[in-house]
Amino acid sequence: MRVPAKLNLHLTVGPLRDDGFHDLVTVFHAVSVCDEITVERGEASLVVEGDDADLVPRDGSNLALRAVRLLADRTGCDPGVAVRLVKRIPVAGGCAGGSADAAAALVACDALWGTGLSRAELADAALALGSDVPFCLSGGTALATGRGEHLTPVLSSGRYAWVLAVADGGLSTPAVYGELDRRRATGPPELAGDPAPVLTALRGGDPAALGRALSNDLQPAALALRPDLRTVLETAVGLGALGALVSGSGPTVAALAPDAATAHRIAAALPGRSGCRRALVAHGPVPGAQVGG
Ligand code: C5P
Repeated sequence: MRVPAKLNLHLTVGPLRDDGFHDLVTVFHAVSVCDEITVERGEASLVVEGDDADLVPRDGSNLALRAVRLLADRTGCDPGVAVRLVKRIPVAGGCAGGSADAAAALVACDALWGTGLSRAELADAALALGSDVPFCLSGGTALATGRGEHLTPVLSSGRYAWVLAVADGGLSTPAVYGELDRRRATGPPELAGDPAPVLTALRGGDPAALGRALSNDLQPAALALRPDLRTVLETAVGLGALGALVSGSGPTVAALAPDAATAHRIAAALPGRSGCRRALVAHGPVPGAQVGG
């Protein structure tokens, strides 16, 4: 089973709620950098391979293992499952890598056990695992509100070429939201505003307009914690990207290229520069967690 990384093409963050989350208005976009997961009945275990596999937690905090346990609890199925994960999505990178693994584990175990859960029940389990997990089930391009769980598919034409610049180390999502709250408490608001320009560009299949419209309220906070990412953003645009932004809470930077050839050229030039350890070429939109995909 393959499951894609996500980008946020637009992200407006509302005020902090009483439950510790922020209300969002975001445009999720699934891209073709995919983790692979397989599940088999057996002794409960986890094997992780692939890029930066050593950075993935192996204990009970691992989101794929948490997904197996949650689904077993909710359905009464035997949680004895051997999970094998091949990582390609940047770890702790703002691309929903852990959430993607959780979504894939849910769908894979649902198929393995034949639970008969409805889509709504699966989506509910997904949200219990993390704000991005419901989108990772569906993929494509979607407008999301709430914590990210109220999803509406976005009319989108064309296929977009992306470069993902993977940074050294990760960023903690709560730390980036916390930095945003601190900045808002002490300084002028930095608001991404309306998602309309992104939605219009997607509907028209207009990469240049999409590049100009990309926006993320978390970006100033992520840049405050990782100033080196500014160089990546500027370098990508200097190399021909139509636009670039920090992906979610970062530190991965996503750059939109006018075509696949330019994406490959940017990806070849970025690694080794400040803030970029390696670069991946991807396209979107792609479907979410898929059995046999
Ligand atoms: O839902 P998830 O586990 O991905 O969230 C991780 C953390 O990110 C939350 O504990 C919260 O601090 C922050 N967050 C938020 N508002 C959201 C999503 C995440 O404040 N809508």
